[in-house]
Amino acid sequence: MRIIKAEYLKGAVDNKSWPEEGFPEVVFCGRSNVGKSSLINMLCNKKNLARTSQVPGKTQLLNFFNINDMMYFVDFPGYGYAKVSKDTRKTFGKMMEEYLTKRESFKLAFLLVDMRHKPTEDDVLMHNYLLYHDAPVKVIATKCDKIKNSERKECINNILETLNISEGDLIITSSEKRIGFDKILAELDKVIEEE
Ligand code: GTP
Ligand code: MG
Repeated sequence: MRIIKAEYLKGAVDNKSWPEEGFPEVVFCGRSNVGKSSLINMLCNKKNLARTSQVPGKTQLLNFFNINDMMYFVDFPGYGYAKVSKDTRKTFGKMMEEYLTKRESFKLAFLLVDMRHKPTEDDVLMHNYLLYHDAPVKVIATKCDKIKNSERKECINNILETLNISEGDLIITSSEKRIGFDKILAELDKVIEEE
């Protein structure tokens, strides 16, 4: 698909403010600062659609975006950011759990991991959590522009081994250099076809 329309719809703290069910929904989740909002902006070709920041913890709600009047993207708050208070972390956890367990329109989760580092314990937990709830998951390695060619193979293997996934479940991307978005769009096509 080509994204020709992308609009911010709303931010929601709980199920009362989720938009009405209808369109299939694709979630972007991952650690704080991994590049979720940047990736959404790259896919939609809009610089400031989802708010990005050098400061981790920018996204604090489930943010819904209308894509082509055909699907919704959901930008999740990032996890694993030490400076976020315990209470806030609990709130984030609840928000995500409520969504993942109750939302019927939820069709696919992209789990983003920073390509430069071995996935963290939190990443493994999140991945297992998604699998536990039978959620279809594709893992996205972000910021590949920061990796030297010589390091590439080791970085990929680190991700595959730590998350116990095969190469076909991993999409390598850079929002900075616009790499990998064709593969993501192909995954979105599959979601639409299955509807
Ligand atoms: P939270 O909302 O805090 O959970 O963060 P996020 O995952 O939405 O991250 P965000 O998109 O705000 O990006 C965090 C930082 O990483 C920003 O400074 C981005 O410019 C930078 N960044 C994101 N994607 C890339 C990329 O592909 N390459 C490089 N070099 N930097 C990137
Ligand atoms: Mg964000």
